[in-house]
Amino acid sequence: MAAALALAGAGPAAAQTAAPRFAPPNLTPAGVRALAANCAQCHGTGGRTVVGSQIPSLAGRERAGLASQLAAFKRGTARATVMDQIAKGYSDEELAALADYFARRPR
Ligand code: HEC
Repeated sequence: MAAALALAGAGPAAAQTAAPRFAPPNLTPAGVRALAANCAQCHGTGGRTVVGSQIPSLAGRERAGLASQLAAFKRGTARATVMDQIAKGYSDEELAALADYFARRPR
């Protein structure tokens, strides 16, 4: 009982200091498609922006280039208005999977 109370007491404090828990990685093809859907509102469906858009298209670009840009956004070493914040929301594995996904999309 004492142990249970001690645990209950530790619960909220521990929750405040613990690192946030994100969803477990889901890097199946369907999981990566779902992640990529988060990019569509700005980069277009399948990573193809509309003609005249100021936002760069991602479809069919070189995988390594996309991956290094995403890593640089996450580190904060690439100039960005929004992508630095967005990239920080993904694990390194998720960013690599997104680079691979968009590199394989037709231009
Ligand atoms: C709110 C709009 C928005 C969303 C959502 C968004 N992006 Fe971006 N993205 C931008 C903008 C704007 C830029 C140009 C850099 C900047 O200003 O941050 C950019 C640049 C990039 C670049 C660099 C391309 C280049 O040629 O320089 C990559 C790669 C990229 N985004 C990938 C993604 C991926 C992957 C996602 C989804 C996880 C995503 N973006 C979601 C707006 C967005």
